[in-house]
Amino acid sequence: MSMAKETSRNIGSIVLLGAPGAGKGTQAKLIAARCRIPHISTGDLLRENVRRGSELGREAQAFMSRGELVPDMLVCNMVAHRLEQPDCERGYVLDGFPRTAAQAGWLDALLQDRLFDNPERLKGTPIVIAIEVPYNELLRRLTGRRTCPSCGRIYNVYLQPPRRDELCDVDGSRLVIRNDDREEVITERLKAYELQTKPVADYYASRGRLHVVDGNRAVREVTADVWAAIENAVAVSEGAKARGTHGDFF
Ligand code: AP5
Ligand code: MG
Repeated sequence: MSMAKETSRNIGSIVLLGAPGAGKGTQAKLIAARCRIPHISTGDLLRENVRRGSELGREAQAFMSRGELVPDMLVCNMVAHRLEQPDCERGYVLDGFPRTAAQAGWLDALLQDRLFDNPERLKGTPIVIAIEVPYNELLRRLTGRRTCPSCGRIYNVYLQPPRRDELCDVDGSRLVIRNDDREEVITERLKAYELQTKPVADYYASRGRLHVVDGNRAVREVTADVWAAIENAVAVSEGAKARGTHGDFF
């Protein structure tokens, strides 16, 4: 896909799966910027609700601080609302959703128009990419992570340090450590991933819709594979459309 095409065409739903620390946020930001579509991180949306003290934030906070998943209905309602926004018209990158088998089924239903009167633009089958990283590397990434509170850029003191200690390269803000990046909470998040989120990858794999990418490499190498998976899915979809069979990544 040429850059001009990427920024004007319909991209559809891209889903990034992976354990805490796998690099979902890092890759989602790059893909979203390249295609000029929104990056929708359910973790970021929930943290924003906690910060604002909204009703959703108050309900979600206790689960998040323990490293547990927030109940499905709360998260699904939040996502449904976000996907209705006009900036999702050409597509979006979902980061951290779906995260349970129930959420995956809910998303499929939404995109297949079974749940409610769904605008045409939301239809289609998501492109699902799982980023795989070994356990010990996940720990190193999470304990070293820093985030810019203003622009959201992600750093790592060991692996991707800012140019000036603890300050954002883009806007100079002081970097922060996420509340749930404490060791005892990290362990719980990784457990929740094993128990509740791994089945989501199985759900998509059993439907032949999972692209697996080795995330234990430099960011740009991972991006190249994520991008190749997207291009491949697009080509399959366009081939199907040209043949007049169903299509539907878009
Ligand atoms: P969420 O915010 O989604 O956190 P997470 O899944 O635990 O994932 P992380 O954001 O920690 O990791 P990431 O994969 O984005 O990695 P990153 O790119 O930052 O969720 C937080 C909480 O919200 C959950 O625990 C739950 O309570 C709740 N929640 C959210 N969604 C939910 C849902 N759908 N249902 C229910 N509850 C939900 O990278 C990590 C670090 O590694 C960074 O420092 C980065 O610089 C570095 N790095 C990245 N890639 C590389 C690379 N290739 N090489 C070297 N370093 C790298
Ligand atoms: Mg993230």
